[in-house]
Amino acid sequence: MAGIIKLVCVVFFLSLMSKGTLQCYPGTLTLKQVATGVHISNKPEWRVIIANECLCTQSDAKILCAGFQTVEQVDPNIFAKSGDTCVINNGYPIHGHTSVNFTYAWDNAFAFGKITSQENCS
Ligand SMILES: *[C@@H]1O[C@H](CO)[C@@H](O)[C@H](O)[C@H]1NC(C)=O
Repeated sequence: MAGIIKLVCVVFFLSLMSKGTLQCYPGTLTLKQVATGVHISNKPEWRVIIANECLCTQSDAKILCAGFQTVEQVDPNIFAKSGDTCVINNGYPIHGHTSVNFTYAWDNAFAFGKITSQENCS
């Protein structure tokens, strides 16, 4: 009997650990970008999709974006440049398995840097 209780505890503990570490590993925000086929001021337009592939919510998401330029106005609620860093979704939570996206227009697809975020597993 005691053995079974111990086993249940171990399984429960392992499931908690995997929730905290495996499924919700930080850095689970991914960035993809595709050409939309539209041109704005003679520059190709690009759609950037930032997706949370984790179950856990990710908030305070930022990306390194030194040198980012666009001739198309980007909604600052989705993507706001602040020096060499850009704030994604105003820092608000991006829930598990959802994404945000925006478009910009420049000669080339911009080589975005690393994304950081705070995970919130509940
Ligand atoms: C981009 O975001 C808008 C607004 O949330 C949404 O309606 C649209 O489906 C998204 N597009 C893609 C390609 O994710």
